[in-house]
Amino acid sequence: MNILIRDEDNHPLHVAIIGAGPAGFYSADQLFKEFGDRVQVDMYDRLPTPFGLVRYGVAPDHLKIKSVTKLYERIANKPGYRFWGNVEFGKHIDLGDLRKHYNCIIFAYGANGSRRLGIPGENLQGSHAATDFVGWYNGHPDYSTCVFDLSVNTVVVVGIGNVAVDVARVLCLTEDELLQSDIADYALDALLKSKVKEVVLLGRRGPAQAAFTNPEAKELGNLQGADIHVIDQEAELDMLSRKDLDLSGDKTTVRKLEIIQNFAERKYNTKAKVIRMRFLISPIEMYNNGADKVSGMRLVKNEIYRGEQGSLKARPTDVHEDIETGLVFRSVGYLGSAVPGIPFDSQAGIICHSQGRILDPKTQEILIGMYTSGWIKRGPTGVIGTNKEDSIESINCLIEDVKSGKMLSPTNKGLSNVEELVRSRQPDLFTFDDWKRIDDMEIANGDSVGRPRVKLTSTASMLKVLGRS
Ligand SMILES: Cc1cc2nc3c(=O)[nH]c(=O)nc-3n(C[C@H](O)[C@H](O)[C@H](O)COP(=O)(O)OP(=O)(O)OC[C@H]3O[C@@H](n4cnc5c(N)ncnc54)[C@H](O)[C@@H]3O)c2cc1C
Ligand SMILES: NC(=O)c1ccc[n+]([C@@H]2O[C@H](COP(=O)([O-])OP(=O)(O)OC[C@H]3O[C@@H](n4cnc5c(N)ncnc54)[C@H](OP(=O)(O)O)[C@@H]3O)[C@@H](O)[C@H]2O)c1
Repeated sequence: MNILIRDEDNHPLHVAIIGAGPAGFYSADQLFKEFGDRVQVDMYDRLPTPFGLVRYGVAPDHLKIKSVTKLYERIANKPGYRFWGNVEFGKHIDLGDLRKHYNCIIFAYGANGSRRLGIPGENLQGSHAATDFVGWYNGHPDYSTCVFDLSVNTVVVVGIGNVAVDVARVLCLTEDELLQSDIADYALDALLKSKVKEVVLLGRRGPAQAAFTNPEAKELGNLQGADIHVIDQEAELDMLSRKDLDLSGDKTTVRKLEIIQNFAERKYNTKAKVIRMRFLISPIEMYNNGADKVSGMRLVKNEIYRGEQGSLKARPTDVHEDIETGLVFRSVGYLGSAVPGIPFDSQAGIICHSQGRILDPKTQEILIGMYTSGWIKRGPTGVIGTNKEDSIESINCLIEDVKSGKMLSPTNKGLSNVEELVRSRQPDLFTFDDWKRIDDMEIANGDSVGRPRVKLTSTASMLKVLGRS
């Protein structure tokens, strides 16, 4: 439905979106669906390239999933769309700037920090956030110079969600599988030289509570170069989980348990590497052998109990074990961070909002013209598609507000005024046309070596291929 946009000088509605990941694009899509050519959408990203975690999070061997960018490209081809890459909110532009130029501002900047374990030894060399490893193998400019010691025999991954599964799988891909992926060149080289033989995943709760999804777990059982191993007793269900499952009959959990049970029944010394999936076990300390580098971990076995809210939780028993390892990835969840001027709940790592309308947490007053969507709205959970529903909710609020005239009244809306401002703050900005040229070059470079793409992994190299350095 087209509505009358109540803007005194009859200019189209101008909207800024901070973040060019899935949430940014689904928000833009909803805006174009509602307002057609009467909306101007400017999408800002601190990185030179669009698509957020679809480019820098989704695993390099999951190329099919990345094809969602075709949809985002169609959105970006709308005449009312502009991309300003390499422009960071809080560094190059701030709230004051945006208020002068836009009727509405949508914060969709994701969650790129990582939660910590809070155990002794966590800061030793060789103990990394999975975020860093994921960014590194995907060629994220912030992580391309990270170094990981892949000369070790055993890697421990703490956590048992889909990111942990990605990390374990990538560490075990064969040369064939790696060459078919769009992994960064330097990561390809390092992984081809890797001496890693064993990857251990640590789930603090039982198999019924494992955070991974079934297709991703199943994939671990079908790797060319690695077996999967689960200890029989750890695959068994505790009494409380059994009771809950009997009551709920949840088919996804039943299937998950079948997959894990099948892993427990397999022979596992058949391939060059092994992934060991552990349950009811937590790290309590990382230690070293005199040097600053992690050499092992003390673990504690857990048991399941029912928490106050009725959910099943893990608590430590007095059974301990040790594991030798020189490389640890902490994969216990991403974490959002605040940007200047926007109310933030630091405990949850999300922007304060109601259904996507940003609000002052003390007064509960809505901040006119300010919205949020995606991981920075609801926290770092959910697949790419989840951000669509999430963005629809936020944009429905925006539409309702615009219809009733509740929006910002910018004093300086002209398209060229914004461009002038952005270029003055960041001369090295990237447009969507720049991205398309980079994309073409990456694919052509891949083509010449029989790979899907060879990624450019620094802003400097991207400027260079565009002839701007
Ligand atoms: C390792 C990993 C693998 C995943 N794999 C899959 C998968 O295979 N399939 C699936 O369906 N889902 C997957 N997901 C989940 C999916 O990636 C997320 O649901 C989705 O990307 C969240 O979208 P978003 O737009 O909220 O955040 P993001 O994708 O993180 O996008 C946010 C964007 O905002 C930008 N930004 C940040 N700060 C600023 C700033 N100050 N100024 C300007 N821009 C800024 C960032 O550079 C980024 O481009 C994966 C997630 C991770 C972490
Ligand atoms: N292929 C895909 O579709 C794909 C790939 C990657 C990511 N994603 C999505 O992206 C989102 C983020 O994934 P994620 O793996 O980062 O997060 P996640 O799904 O929330 O998993 C986090 C894991 O860390 C554990 N954990 C948390 N704190 C811990 C602690 N202190 N000690 C030990 N373990 C701890 C959690 O256990 P508890 O459950 O006990 O808290 C859980 O196993 C998810 O929604 C995921 O599905 C999807």
